[in-house]
Amino acid sequence: MKNTGGGETAKRAAGEAAAAEVSDGDLVGLGTGSTAAHAIRTLGDRVADGLDVEGVATSYQSRALAKDVGIPLRSLSDVARVDVAIDGADQVATDANALVKGGGAAHAREKVVASAADRFLVVADDSKLAAPLDYPVPVEVLPDAHARVERALRDVGGDPVLREAERKDGPVITDNGNLVVDCDFGGVDDPASLATALSGVAGVVEHGLFVGLADAVYVGDADGAVAVRSLK
Ligand code: A5P
Repeated sequence: MKNTGGGETAKRAAGEAAAAEVSDGDLVGLGTGSTAAHAIRTLGDRVADGLDVEGVATSYQSRALAKDVGIPLRSLSDVARVDVAIDGADQVATDANALVKGGGAAHAREKVVASAADRFLVVADDSKLAAPLDYPVPVEVLPDAHARVERALRDVGGDPVLREAERKDGPVITDNGNLVVDCDFGGVDDPASLATALSGVAGVVEHGLFVGLADAVYVGDADGAVAVRSLK
């Protein structure tokens, strides 16, 4: 389930501003979604102008785009740390260092890359800001654990819905071969506790609550202005 968010001007402004933070020699985590795509295209332009970087993709989509715009790539399986990661969000808390991600079902690899990054820069348009977070939390689930995980999600106060594919019968299958359940918890007053509870459910591959990971949030608006909120 995707938060399509605000306009392209705002997304582009945020993506371009974060991409400007990348320096020669950096290994860059390349996020997924329409806002991160602006950062990837900007990096591609900078590479064409001589910037010397390598990228690590968080999804099939970001790998394809990075190849298209000429960013040299390293495989995630070979990478233990990255210098800077840039990624979007479905919702950004204004009262905590917390995000909801996974509207594009890429949050498992996105979290691996964000957690490996010395600096994790979040890019978003201003429609994504919220307090408290109330966007349904995407949960990637081992297919055989689906029924068990849904019960556990209800036990911690959620309302899980299996994500259905569009233009394919049946559920969404992630890049990792798993299912996604979107779980509405209403307002999330304590994202850290909920994140810990979700991580403890057997069969959950990864959930879309990103707590304490972001170093800065780049928020674009419809006029193309960008506000940078530093979180560390
Ligand atoms: C991908 O799974 C998500 O975490 C995206 O980063 C998120 O959905 C933001 O996408 P947009 O920038 O397209 O809104």
